[in-house]
Amino acid sequence: MLIRMDTTWDIEGIRSQYPALKDGTAYLDGAGGTQVPESVIEAISDAHRSGLSNVHGPFASSRRSDALIAGAREAVADLTGGEAGGVILGPNMTTLTCRLAAALAKTWAPGDEIVLSELEHDSNVRPWVQAAASAGVTVRWARVDPLTTDLPAGQYAGLVTERTRLVAVAAASNLVGTMTDVAAITEIAHAAGALVYVDAVAAAPHFRLDLSSMGADFLAVSAYKWCGPHAGAVVASADLLATLHPDKLEPSSDVVPERFELGTAGIANMAGITAAVDHLADLVPGEGDRRQRLDRSFAALRAREVTSVQSAVSRLTGIPGVRMVGAPTRRTGTVFFTVDSMPPGEVAARLGERGICVWSGHAYAWELTRALGIRDSGGGIRASLAPYTAESDLDRLVTAMAEIVSGQVRSTS
Ligand SMILES: Cc1ncc(COP(=O)(O)O)c(C=O)c1O
Repeated sequence: MLIRMDTTWDIEGIRSQYPALKDGTAYLDGAGGTQVPESVIEAISDAHRSGLSNVHGPFASSRRSDALIAGAREAVADLTGGEAGGVILGPNMTTLTCRLAAALAKTWAPGDEIVLSELEHDSNVRPWVQAAASAGVTVRWARVDPLTTDLPAGQYAGLVTERTRLVAVAAASNLVGTMTDVAAITEIAHAAGALVYVDAVAAAPHFRLDLSSMGADFLAVSAYKWCGPHAGAVVASADLLATLHPDKLEPSSDVVPERFELGTAGIANMAGITAAVDHLADLVPGEGDRRQRLDRSFAALRAREVTSVQSAVSRLTGIPGVRMVGAPTRRTGTVFFTVDSMPPGEVAARLGERGICVWSGHAYAWELTRALGIRDSGGGIRASLAPYTAESDLDRLVTAMAEIVSGQVRSTS
């Protein structure tokens, strides 16, 4: 089939689908959580309206719940290049990662090793550190280049040994936007027989994921970072999941992937997950199945973000007293900066007064902000793009930053 490559980015058309944007707020806090389009709101509401019951029951409302969950597994599989039978769904990435860490730690022995990185959100650090401590496993650390905030993949050759059981690494930093070379890291890890757990929470909203070309064994995402509801997922092969035995309730399902899912699912949210993936697939008009449409949407989204983010970085850098943190070789639509003589929290508050949402602090990039020497001084200010970000949002940020900084210079001089 011939796929029409229409890369039109109709930003006004996209924005019109988001009720929250109507009040004029510039939501540049997508890395903390995105807004949701009407289609996601409707899908969740419709699920409730249709009548839902608990799963696996012998009546229609229960079968509807089963279908919503199955649909969400298919959608997440399409988003990540995985298989629906290996999609574990849950309340958020952190909870699921704690669960996977506990399950994997059962297969570790004292003297084994795991490799973590400084780049991570703490949800891809602490669950592993704690699991390692309980299993007598040594933690080794991959370092970030403090100037660029790149995570050089070559260092893994010196970190991974025949005792390494797991490498946990982010596909992209939630703080500074650095994109990592997961495929290269995975190649090194797999050569030593180690599994690779990829935190793709900060990557999934910005570029096309593909589990197999990344070579990852596990890949974690959070739907609320890509215009969906508050829910998370971990994707792996069903065969790999079948080898793991997490602690579970005695009567609950022991089937993969359900055996990893504790308690009752947020069933209506499952409809929202599917609607969010459909929304991403339809950001750019065109034909094809959902994976093909996601390919096309992400190609257009990435092209647009590269240009927008470069322009934002150069304009912010041009403001005296504003300092970008890091200069990643490849970055998502996320930038992180500090301001001379004004704490990050105050900058964010002043932007908030102007209707511009940005995050400030460490954003749970706990080891990274320590490594960069900015954790104790309040971290920095993070602005991040989402599919609905308009150039005018970035213009407002740059203009407001120039005003805030010049006001500060006057008031302190
Ligand atoms: C890169 C990254 N990983 C993991 C998480 C944790 O995700 P969740 O809130 O779904 O637990 C976040 C949340 O901000 C994140 O940015």
